[in-house]
Amino acid sequence: MTHPAIQLPALIAHRGYSAAAPENTLAAVRAAYEAGATWVELDVQLLGDGTPVIWHDGDVARCSNGRGGLASMSWAKAQTLDAGAWFDDRFAGEKMPSLSEMLALLNELEMGANMEIKVNKGRDPIALVERALPEMLDTLPPERLIISSFNAAALGHCRQFASKERLALGVLFGSVPKSWHEQCEAIEAFSVHPHWPRLKRAQADAMQRDGYQILCYTANDPSAFHSRWEWGIGSVITDEPAAFKRFLDSH
Ligand code: G3P
Ligand code: MG
Repeated sequence: MTHPAIQLPALIAHRGYSAAAPENTLAAVRAAYEAGATWVELDVQLLGDGTPVIWHDGDVARCSNGRGGLASMSWAKAQTLDAGAWFDDRFAGEKMPSLSEMLALLNELEMGANMEIKVNKGRDPIALVERALPEMLDTLPPERLIISSFNAAALGHCRQFASKERLALGVLFGSVPKSWHEQCEAIEAFSVHPHWPRLKRAQADAMQRDGYQILCYTANDPSAFHSRWEWGIGSVITDEPAAFKRFLDSH
């Protein structure tokens, strides 16, 4: 046995269906499910009191009605925030989800998850992995979980917790560096997650030759992304899962 038997979907809803619902909320995951997505990408980080939550930014200004950094915020304080009305009044009352709440929903819907270990500036990657990873491993089966990160220390620490047979790890890149292969080998990666406009054909070819799945982020125009399927890209991570589904269903 090598990696978990993951049936990689052609599309993964980025932060849930983030074009249609407030990103990284339970509502965004339900919207992704209703649009036909079977997997979502979500960002995981810690509040100041150690609670693992689903959130992208280092602070709450952009995606809530409050202010302040996650590093100094308690769960009780976070739950006073409205994390939905900023997007649309229809989502007023939506909360910042805890990792536990999100994992329960993913299991209820039997969805797969690419959980990104989000190490914002000044935050500790090791503490994040130690608090969040065991719960993810305990809750989601190997075939419905991929952990990714831009942070090499976080990924290396994840591998200390679980073998490549149990845990699929993915390396996130902006521009793919020359050292991509060494970085993937060091953690026995399952997948490479490049920023799609910066990925070169030769790099995609080399990644596939070396046996890595390719999950490209974040593409929102199916026509613009079209030629990349011929490159052997396994999955597209998109804010627009319904548009990609329509496109894929008709091609
Ligand atoms: O995992 C793909 C993508 O989410 C990485 O960038 O900033 O959207 O979390 P970001
Ligand atoms: Mg992300």
